[in-house]
Amino acid sequence: MSTQWSPKSWQSKTVLQQPTYLDKEQLQGALDRLAKLPPLVTSWEIESLKEQLAEAAEGKAFLLQGGDCSENLDDCETDSIVRNLKVLMQMSFVLIHGSQKKVVRVGRIAGQYAKPRSNDTETRDGVTLPVYRGDIVNRVGFTEADRTPNPELLLRGYERAALTLNFIRGLSVGGFADMHHPENWDLDFASSSSRSEQYNEMIDSIRSSLNFMEAVLGNSIAESKSIDFFTSHEGLHLGYEQAQTRQVPRRDGWYNLSTHLPWIGYRTRHLDGAHVEYFKGIENPVGIKVGPKFIPAELVELVKVLNPKNEPGRITLIHRFGDEQVGECLPPIIEAIQEAEQKVLFVSDPMHGNTFATNSGIKTRSFDKIAGELEQSFKIHAKCGSILGGVHLELTGDNVTECIGGAKNLGEPDLERAYKSQVDPRLNYDQAMEIAFRVADHLKTDRISNGS
Ligand code: PEP
Ligand code: CO
Repeated sequence: MSTQWSPKSWQSKTVLQQPTYLDKEQLQGALDRLAKLPPLVTSWEIESLKEQLAEAAEGKAFLLQGGDCSENLDDCETDSIVRNLKVLMQMSFVLIHGSQKKVVRVGRIAGQYAKPRSNDTETRDGVTLPVYRGDIVNRVGFTEADRTPNPELLLRGYERAALTLNFIRGLSVGGFADMHHPENWDLDFASSSSRSEQYNEMIDSIRSSLNFMEAVLGNSIAESKSIDFFTSHEGLHLGYEQAQTRQVPRRDGWYNLSTHLPWIGYRTRHLDGAHVEYFKGIENPVGIKVGPKFIPAELVELVKVLNPKNEPGRITLIHRFGDEQVGECLPPIIEAIQEAEQKVLFVSDPMHGNTFATNSGIKTRSFDKIAGELEQSFKIHAKCGSILGGVHLELTGDNVTECIGGAKNLGEPDLERAYKSQVDPRLNYDQAMEIAFRVADHLKTDRISNGS
C-alpha cells in the first residue's frame, strides 16, 4: 500500500456506478454527519472474520454468505430480520452437520442498500428518469421526486443498518442462539418440506450429541450461548464507505467500520478504477465478484494489488459464471491463482450468472441451474486440487415466489403471487434450505472420502 493512500484517494480515479446528486453541498453535509457517527462494527470483529475466512480457504471451515439482493429501508422490521437470521441459522446447522466443520455465517445485511445498474436512466411511456440505485440513493417509485438521488437517504441507510445490527447482536448472545433449543429457529420447514424428516433427525442428533458431551464434561455447553454472525455488503457507494473508514487505537491501517466484509462487484472491478483504489487501503477482508469476462491474468493482478503480502483471509473470490459457463470459465481462474501462489478463499455465487427474464419480462432464476452451478463448482475445484470454501446466496426467510423450481416446483405463473424483490430474485425459505441440504451432501461426501 502506498503511504499516500487515504480514504478519499479514490476521488482521483474514474468512478463508476455512482449517483449524480444535484445539490453537492447537501451531499457533503450528509457525508460529514455520517463521518462523525459511531462505527457499526469493530476492528477486532473484522480481524476475527479474517482469521475464520483463512480457515475456510484451507478447508477447515465453510462460509455461508446470504441475504437479500438489496435491502429496503421499509423492510427493517422485526419479523423480516428474525426470519432472515433464522433461515441462515438453520442452513448453517445443516452445513455443520454434513461437514462437521465450523460454519462462518455472514449476512448480506445491515448495509446492502446500494445497487449497480446497467443504465443511468430508465424510460417508461416516453418519460426518462434516473434509474433506481438502491434505497440509500433514491426510491423505487417512478416519479421525479422518488428517483432524484437524495443525500439524506445515506443517513437513513446508516440508521437502519444500526437498528438491524443492534437486534442481530441481541439475538446472537441470548436464548435465540442456545443450541439446546433449535426449535427457536423453526420456521415452517419441519412440517412442510420433503426434507422435513431429515431435518428433524438432524436436530435430534444435535441434541443428543450435546447431551452426551455435557454428561461427559459434567457442565453445560449451553453456557456459551453466543454465535458469531458477520455482515457484508457491496462497497459500491464510495462516499458512504469513505465516511465510515477510520483508524482505530492500537492497530495499524484503516478499517471500513460500516461492515465486516465489503465486496467489489463485478461491474466495478477495474484495476485502475476508483473502487479498487478504495479497497486497496482498508484492512477488512475483501470479496471480489468474479464473472465470465474476468481475464485470469487480470484477476491475479487485482488479487496481488489488493493483497500484496498474500495475507490469508484477506481475499475471497466469489465466482458467478452461470451453470452454462462455469465449466469453461472456472478452471482457468483456479489455475491462474494456483500458478501465482495466491492465498484466496473460493466461494460460489450460483445466483448472478443464472438470471433470465420470462416471456412476460419477469426477472427470475431457475433452482435447477443454481443447484447445477454449485454442483459443477464442487466438482471443478476437486478436479483442480483447490477448495470450494463457501457459498454466496441471495435468499430470504420469507415464502416469496421469485425463483422457479425447487421442492415445491414453482412455475412461471407462480412468480406473480409473491414477488417482492425490486432487484434480483431470491431463493425462498424452502429453496434455500434445499440448497443447504445439497451443499451439506457434498461436504459430507468429501469428508467421508477424505476419511475424516
Ligand atoms: C450482487 O451481489 O447483488 C451483485 C450485483 O453482484 P455482481 O456484481 O456479481 O453482479
Ligand atoms: Co443481486
